[in-house]
Amino acid sequence: MDNYINNFLFTYFPYIALAVFFFGVITRLVWMNKTIQAESSQFLADKKVKLASNLFHVGIIFVFFGHLTLFIPEWLYHMVMTTETKRVIALSMGSIFGIMAVIGLIILVIRRFTAPRIKYNSGFNDYLIIVLLLVEAVIGLTAAAKTAVEPIGTYAALSEWSQAIVTFQPNAGLILANHPLQYKLHIVLGLFIFMIFPYTKLMHMLVFPYVYFFRSGYQLVRSSSISRTR
Ligand code: HEM
Repeated sequence: MDNYINNFLFTYFPYIALAVFFFGVITRLVWMNKTIQAESSQFLADKKVKLASNLFHVGIIFVFFGHLTLFIPEWLYHMVMTTETKRVIALSMGSIFGIMAVIGLIILVIRRFTAPRIKYNSGFNDYLIIVLLLVEAVIGLTAAAKTAVEPIGTYAALSEWSQAIVTFQPNAGLILANHPLQYKLHIVLGLFIFMIFPYTKLMHMLVFPYVYFFRSGYQLVRSSSISRTR
């Protein structure tokens, strides 16, 4: 049974999550383009919130690029560094930016749950996504802490698994079968966040500011014919 669950979560679930992600992203961009927005509450914000928002955004952007290094093949980075050096860089950069993101998220979560004006403007989705991101980032930091004390093979296997998934290796899940729980929880929750991504405010990441100018159907000023009838 253990084997079955492991195989499902780390061989098949990544494809289910990615399929839902791409389906959602494409359909929302093509058919529901105008519903995409960041739902920013900065107009209700004070200085502390702007600092928290900046900490979160800077931290998470660097953490995101850090994750992309999982896909660099060993033979390629071995041209310039060993796996041990890569681990040290990943751990130091990951911890700095991960902690930045977590501090920002903690302040944003507290504000979301306590500031009366923000509470009034928040729906279930707003609470869900920010809490999920915080939990995910904290588990990510515990996984990084585990990487610091585990044998180097545990760290190298994370890249091996990521690359096995994107190259459709049928036994990818086996690579993580004996990995500590922190990694497994982090990956499953991360994939779940990917799945719901297109249906949340996170979609605003994919809509660059200039896109708003090309959206049709907005009436920014009252047309003269309407003014004349009044
Ligand atoms: C399927 C998606 C994801 C996968 C496969 C993944 C994988 C990983 C792995 C393997 C680590 C440990 C790296 C190490 O040992 O140094 C890690 C760390 C981390 N992850 Fe993720 N992650 C995913 C999604 C996310 C998401 C959505 C967030 C956003 C909150 C996130 C935030 C973090 C943080 C803050 C760390 C610790 C700092 C770092 O090492 O960069 N991860 N992730």
